[in-house]
Amino acid sequence: MLSVHTRPVLPEDRQGLVLFFKEVMDWPGFEHTGSVADYWDWKYIRKPGRGSVGYAAWSGEKAVSHASASPVSLLIDRKAVGSGQLGDLYTRPEYRGNGLAERMMERVEERAAADGIELLYAFPSEIGYRLVTKRGFWEAPLKFSQYQLITNPSMFFDQVSLGPIKKAAYRAMLALRSPARRSVPGMVKEVSLFPADIDQMTERFEANFDLTLRHDRDYLDWRYTDPDGGRFRTLVATVDGQTAGCAIVRLYSDDGPRYMDIVDLMADLDRPAVAQSLVAEAVRIAVVENIDGVQTWIPSDHPLVPFLVRAGFIVRTPLVTERKLRLLCKAVGGNAPALDDLRRPGLRAHIMLGDTDWI
Ligand SMILES: CC(C)(COP(=O)(O)OP(=O)(O)OC[C@H]1O[C@@H](n2cnc3c(N)ncnc32)[C@H](O)[C@@H]1OP(=O)(O)O)[C@@H](O)C(=O)NCCC(=O)NCCS
Repeated sequence: MLSVHTRPVLPEDRQGLVLFFKEVMDWPGFEHTGSVADYWDWKYIRKPGRGSVGYAAWSGEKAVSHASASPVSLLIDRKAVGSGQLGDLYTRPEYRGNGLAERMMERVEERAAADGIELLYAFPSEIGYRLVTKRGFWEAPLKFSQYQLITNPSMFFDQVSLGPIKKAAYRAMLALRSPARRSVPGMVKEVSLFPADIDQMTERFEANFDLTLRHDRDYLDWRYTDPDGGRFRTLVATVDGQTAGCAIVRLYSDDGPRYMDIVDLMADLDRPAVAQSLVAEAVRIAVVENIDGVQTWIPSDHPLVPFLVRAGFIVRTPLVTERKLRLLCKAVGGNAPALDDLRRPGLRAHIMLGDTDWI
């Protein structure tokens, strides 16, 4: 059945690959401005820094399998490690089970290593998990939790019929925690562009972690301010004229309920009012926009979790059918021993939804 040839992805493959992604699934699976081709350009052409590594298998003019790695600078123990996030791993249903995905991954790994990438990582689906572990990826010892604040208890509790007692108890808990949902007046503002001194704040913040992405200004501008890549809103906290934190949120609707994701949250940790104000402002916007629930994925031992809990967020257990956030890694360059630090229990990581290819 298989008469396919594999080659690296080139810009001229755009049309064939966009067609493939449209046919195989609802790619990318979330709201953004522009067409699917605009999204592809945003992801694969306009991303700052070194170019992506992509491989596709073709049957004639038709793409049948694909995998890629998007280069990112990860900070591991505060040292920049050239890394790549594995993504867009798909095989056309009628071509599955023939080793194509594995072949795409093998090529991506080889090419990434040749390009100087030392670490590949992924946030895989259940089936992707089996595939990447088979290729030697291992799970970083991080426990991610999803936190949720229900801003419309009537809708949620009626929907899952938990009854009036639970609804009343939840409302009482929220009322008790309302002081932690107050922001310092004037501290947080919504912006359309990241401020000029954002790098200083992100560098201070990232120094608290053993593992995080380097959120420099070019990266943040690309990731969050280009609507072709997704629709995000940015809140910035300022103290004494300097940027002291930021929160990035996205509002979306999932066939009925309206949600807000806090996709990133960074703040000077020695100024508790900053994180509290950013969380409070995000919740305020959610209420104004008639959002039913605010959610966020974050490592459960992250230093900003207490600010969420104090504001009334509780851990949400994902349904069995829902994807759980897990980070899988593999050293692909010659520097594997240095990456052993990532296997250390108690690893302090700042990884949130915005760092993944889920949104
Ligand atoms: C996951 C996917 C890319 C696999 O593509 P494929 O070309 O059929 O994969 P391969 O033939 O190379 O299989 C490689 C390995 O993947 C795993 N695998 C593939 N399909 C599987 C399935 N249906 N169930 C369980 N494991 C599966 C197996 O470990 C397999 O190794 P094996 O054949 O030795 O058992 C394909 O099923 C797909 O496009 N799924 C939808 C998108 C998706 O989930 N992508 C992963 C996102 S992280």
